[in-house]
Order: sequence, then C-alpha cells, then structure tokens
Amino acid sequence: MVKPEANHAALPHGPDADAAMAQYEERAGRYDWELAAFEPVRRAAIEQLAIGPGQSVVDVGCGTGLSLPLLGAAVGPRGRVLGVEPSPGMLSRARARVVGMRMPWIELQQSVAELADFSGIAPVDAMLFHFTHDVLRNPRAVQWLMSQVKPGGRVVAAGLQWAPLWAVPANLFVWSAAMYSTTCLEGLACPWDLLRPYLCEVEEQSLWAGSIYIAAGRRRD
Ligand SMILES: C[S@@+](CC[C@H](N)C(=O)[O-])C[C@H]1O[C@@H](n2cnc3c(N)ncnc32)[C@H](O)[C@@H]1O
Repeated sequence: MVKPEANHAALPHGPDADAAMAQYEERAGRYDWELAAFEPVRRAAIEQLAIGPGQSVVDVGCGTGLSLPLLGAAVGPRGRVLGVEPSPGMLSRARARVVGMRMPWIELQQSVAELADFSGIAPVDAMLFHFTHDVLRNPRAVQWLMSQVKPGGRVVAAGLQWAPLWAVPANLFVWSAAMYSTTCLEGLACPWDLLRPYLCEVEEQSLWAGSIYIAAGRRRD
C-alpha cells in the first residue's frame, strides 16, 4: 500500500488524503446503494470513453468497482483494466466484484492516484475519472496521470459542478453532495480544468440542471 500522508502537504485549500480515506472507509458498506441514482451518468461517461476490444483503460479512484463490469466488457479478454483506489474498504468490495465477474484482465491497485504504479500498462488508451473531485483538484496527481495516457487516448471526467446561480435547488444538491463525498469544495465551477491543458477535442455535457458535468477529450500529442 502506498501511504497517502505525503501527498497534499503543499495544498492548503486542496484535497486532504487522510480525510478522504476516513470518509470512504466509513461509507464503503453503503456506497453502492448511495450511488444507484448516478448509474445513468456512469453509463454516459463510459460511453464517452469509446473504448473497444484489446484496449487498456485506467479507472482512477475506482471505489467499489461499479464501473469495472462495463469497462471490462468493453475491452474484453485481450484488453486491460486497472482500477486504482486508496481506501481498503472500498477496494475490498471492488476485489469481490472482480472475482465474481471472472474477468482476469481487470487488475486493482491500492494506492492514491498520484503515487500509482502504471508500469506494465502505460501508456494507456483511456482514463476515467468518475466522481473523483479530490483527484482532479490535485495538480500533482493530474500531471502524473496525464503522463500515462497515449497521445490521442481518451480521457473522460464526470462529477459534481456548480449549477448556474439561479438554480438554487441544484446548487444545494451540489453543496450537500460535495460536503459528503469530497474533501475540497475548491474548483467546483469547473472541476476538470486542470486536465484542460493536456486535452484536445474536448466536449462537455451538463446534466441534472447543470449540477453534473461530463467532459471528454483526447490526450494531446
Ligand atoms: C465518489 S467515490 C467514486 C468511486 C468510483 N469512481 C465510482 O464512480 O463509483 C471517490 C473515490 O475516490 C477515491 N479517492 C480519494 N482520493 C483519492 C486519490 N488521491 N487517489 C485515488 N483515489 C482517491 C476515494 O477513496 C473514493 O473511492
């Protein structure tokens, strides 16, 4: 296990790895139930990855592995899927899911994203950030992760964002969901903006009255 303590010392307003670990250890047992309503967003984000048989994909902050069945099925036995997740409680549920799926081409790694080991799989064809605001607000993590994607590779991020100011109920939803599931409210106006310099051909969708985004692009050469 890569220890997360060293990661965010230089980021006073950024994500807090220890707090994130505590948050997800506490939530792991009920996480799948809580995320059921977000399933259409997950499917739409994975569709935007446009991965196919034989390709490689990283699921950053894979949690309990809810995206893994779709990713594993898309790349098939000649492909590779790597899920990276620091919380032991979340990861043990992902492991149980993978065993049940009988897709040995899916691997899991217990690590914070910024210290993950991609040797043997990088450069990858695609990378998914599904509701991983803490990772997207960590410049070191973003830099490291983007260095592992092939030129032209697909990168998709999806999650919470501030809705337009007039959409008060939507913003109350974003505020309460972000307080519950992230350790940093910074960057919610455009959560994926640290990815932008690395990407081209970016398309962004706004869902749920603007409270959810899906941003999809290709890694620049
Ligand atoms: C809201 S959950 C999303 C899980 C999964 N992507 C999904 O769609 O169900 C956020 C996940 O990010 C993980 N996480 C938090 N900080 C992280 C970091 N620095 N590196 C990798 N994962 C991290 C948490 O442990 C948690 O499992």
